[in-house]
Amino acid sequence: VALSRDDSLVYAVDPDLDSLFITSTKGDKTVTRIAVGRMPEKVLVGPDDTIYVANRYGRSVSVIRKGDTQVAATLDVGVEPVGLAITADGRTLYVVNSAMQNSLETGSVMAFDTATRAIRWESPVGPEPRGIALLPNGKAMVSLYKSGEMVVLDATNGKVLRNNTDVFQQLNQVELLRNGDRCNGLTCAGPVPSVDPTSGAFPNATTTRTRRPRALEAVLTNPEGTQVYVPTLLATDATLNTRPHDDKVSATVPGRSESGGYGSSGGCGVRTAVAAPGLLTFDIEGNATVDDVGTCTPGSTDRPPVILTSNVKGMPVQGPVAVATDPSGTFLFVANRESNNVSVVPTRTALEPLRSDREPFLRGQQVVPVGSGPTGIAVTADGKTAWVYNAFDHSLSRLEADQGLVRQREVRTLGQDVLPADVVAGRRLFFSATNPDMNDPKLGISCATCHVEAREDGHVWNTTEGPRNTPALTGKKLAETGPFHWNGEFDTVTQFMTHTTKDRMGGSGPTPAMERQLMAFIMSVPAPDNPFATSTPAAVLERGKAAFDKAACGSCHSGSTFTDNRFYDVGTLVKQGPVQDRNEFLFHGGLNTPSLLGIARTGPFLHDGSAPTLKARIMMGKSADKHGLTSGLTDQEVDDLVSYVQSL
Ligand code: HEC
Ligand code: HEC
Repeated sequence: VALSRDDSLVYAVDPDLDSLFITSTKGDKTVTRIAVGRMPEKVLVGPDDTIYVANRYGRSVSVIRKGDTQVAATLDVGVEPVGLAITADGRTLYVVNSAMQNSLETGSVMAFDTATRAIRWESPVGPEPRGIALLPNGKAMVSLYKSGEMVVLDATNGKVLRNNTDVFQQLNQVELLRNGDRCNGLTCAGPVPSVDPTSGAFPNATTTRTRRPRALEAVLTNPEGTQVYVPTLLATDATLNTRPHDDKVSATVPGRSESGGYGSSGGCGVRTAVAAPGLLTFDIEGNATVDDVGTCTPGSTDRPPVILTSNVKGMPVQGPVAVATDPSGTFLFVANRESNNVSVVPTRTALEPLRSDREPFLRGQQVVPVGSGPTGIAVTADGKTAWVYNAFDHSLSRLEADQGLVRQREVRTLGQDVLPADVVAGRRLFFSATNPDMNDPKLGISCATCHVEAREDGHVWNTTEGPRNTPALTGKKLAETGPFHWNGEFDTVTQFMTHTTKDRMGGSGPTPAMERQLMAFIMSVPAPDNPFATSTPAAVLERGKAAFDKAACGSCHSGSTFTDNRFYDVGTLVKQGPVQDRNEFLFHGGLNTPSLLGIARTGPFLHDGSAPTLKARIMMGKSADKHGLTSGLTDQEVDDLVSYVQSL
């Protein structure tokens, strides 16, 4: 959502409706609808009031002039454009592409000359980038969605100046020292306890409680141009107890005495929370200025709190996806998609006294309920009004400050549902951290907290069974690929859903109707956009298919789903190290063959995330012939095989 320069109009894009909506911020409630490209997700207004819309599945940006009722021009961009930014003089438009037309392993930033609409440059920035903010020092910062990292670019030429930050180390100082971790390749502050040189294990590894930023999307520079804010989900590396009891098919066990294997979020609970909603602060060189979340004490007061939390009992905060500031930079407004509310967060925590000793992370945060699935937020120049777009019910909320509290004053419906009713209902369930059927609202976790964007978070969760990479759900004919989970412990969707919602998320469990809705939603989500699905030359595909056959990949990845739904040890079981695959839970003797459909952009691969790319997966243990007959493949055949799998 965005506002015209004079704040008289509000613009909202709706991905279900392939539309840009325009409505007045004043009394007139007429809504104008403009058709744009496929699944638009972001809208930006330039200094001359030109409107730019990033069409996520259209590989395009629509350009609309103020007052017009149709698109004036369309820019061809890369794969899944999501982030937009424009210079103060309006001359250069930046577009973040989640992937490139010629490589899925990196996305890019493109700079356009807005006068000629020519591309000035395109720069690869790393895997799955999403958001961008321009900085007063001539640089730009870009968020990487899965790796939880930030990239610093020279905004004049796209040169990457820095492609990782110290955020992981800063968030986890105490924990890293305690565990003797090598600080993720970075230099640790203070002495580092020694690591076992043979296993590389932490001395006390199973209790590691480091937290990893993930799901980085929105990036915002403050009005002073001194700080950069990035909403995130902080995932725990602690071992999750996925089995509240001994029975292997847990769904059949009544009672939920140890429910909520996925833990709580917010407040000091961040130490045990599975995925806590957070807000990262960086300086404009890309250094993280965040509290150490392990200590659970308030850190510096010159920046917003790291953990978003709720001041209303029973109302969680989850899924922070968009952030806006008031013009003075005193408050941030964060749209929380999974909890249907907006967090109002002071940027200088000294402004507000601590609410209580037990909640030092709260620091004056306020939560305001809005519509369903808020995904965008914009604040007027006088700082008095915030407009929120609620993507799941196609409505606009107007928030206003009232005696120190922010309240929703108006809800305006801009569009109607066009997706099937089951899909609409299923999406709300999938993204809900508030529905007691799905989860315990005290824990505040939704399916989308891990299957972010209904895809996956790129995180390898440590569980009592072993390391478990969040699998992709889309584009792979999920309904035909049971049994489910890497261990295949659930034969049916019902068993799986009941276990996940009751035993892990602490909900009462979806009804059969809700379960159908959830599946209808999952099955409706398109796989990540992949140009190689259509652009790979037939000759390459033919050679790749021959390599697939030569290596006998199809003996397990068979049929139209590319899985036989059976179990094998392909040499990847983790038998040593801090988290190992527990044999007693591998009751099929191996791992569930995953479907290869639509997996091109779902890395890292394998159950423990040990293969960052498809090529790495084939090269790992190539000579051992345990995962396909790979030893005989030539370099050319390996590349062809990658191209083939990438096209599926
Ligand atoms: C804490 C993160 C997290 C949450 C919350 C979560 N999942 Fe998952 N999901 C995972 C991980 C990790 C796995 C793999 C687990 C394993 O194999 O043991 C998984 C596996 C799955 C699978 C099996 C896929 C396959 O091909 O076998 C499905 C389907 C799924 N999740 C859907 C959901 C739904 C629906 C919800 C909400 C009810 C949900 N998940 C909640 C992380 C999560
Ligand atoms: C013996 C059965 C078998 C054969 C043969 C086989 N696979 Fe697999 N494949 C599996 C299993 C089981 C896994 C899961 C292993 C893991 O996660 O550690 C897997 C995982 C994968 C993955 C990762 C998928 C993901 O979502 O993370 C890819 C890619 C893959 N296989 C490609 C291939 C290719 C290419 C070949 C041929 C060279 C091949 N496989 C041969 C059984 C097999």
